[in-house]
Amino acid sequence: MEVIICKDYDEASAKAYEVMKGVISAKDDATLGLATGSTPIGLYKNMIKDHKENGVSYAKCHSFNLDEYVGIDRNHEQSYYTFMHENLFNHIDIKEENVNLPYGDDQAACDAYEKAMDGYKIDIQVLGIGANGHIGFNEPGTSFDSLTHIVDLQEKTISDNARFFNNDMNLVPKKAITMGIATIMKAKKVLLIATGANKADAVYGLVKGEVTESLPASILQKHPDVVVVVDEAAASKIK
Ligand code: F6R
Repeated sequence: MEVIICKDYDEASAKAYEVMKGVISAKDDATLGLATGSTPIGLYKNMIKDHKENGVSYAKCHSFNLDEYVGIDRNHEQSYYTFMHENLFNHIDIKEENVNLPYGDDQAACDAYEKAMDGYKIDIQVLGIGANGHIGFNEPGTSFDSLTHIVDLQEKTISDNARFFNNDMNLVPKKAITMGIATIMKAKKVLLIATGANKADAVYGLVKGEVTESLPASILQKHPDVVVVVDEAAASKIK
């Protein structure tokens, strides 16, 4: 595991883009594993900038996202499908038919997503990390053997997300579909970005803690090619 400590969010986003660019320059038809959340937005801005200014192309790339809510339409303003289009896909030349997000509420949808990914093999998986060490929607206690599965969202996640749904918890989806831990571990390379003091404990567990299902991201210690990009605040407990 390589850990790169940056000054702040902007420097971490630029460094994360360097790692991403290394992969796409070596392979113009790379398969990208992508994440939502606030953390990768800076990385996506760098991807968009280099595409617009220097023509870095994603025309031959495929992408697979980590997760999606269950129970809201893809075109809902808060779906991860919408998030990805607004923050990345609409601004680069990736083809719509090459972008994939999990979608559905049953095992068949999960199996189909696994099968689709197996056909491509993810060259680089972008991850954020939850303050409790979650990756994707894999909360503490998720089996390290898990593949794409449906999860019940925790009460805390539902209340945290209410701000995106008119502050009405009843409108917040109660389930999600997510790549599992074993799915994430199949990626050839993992790029995890963490910024902000509220991620410091999770980053400690990820880098220096015991490998335990209580801190899902800790399994990445066993992955052969992981780059962790953190800012000073998120790195405060690993120095
Ligand atoms: C996003 C995802 C989540 C986030 C994590 C951090 O697709 O699966 O695991 O990466 O919750 O979220 P932010 O970046 O908003 O702090």
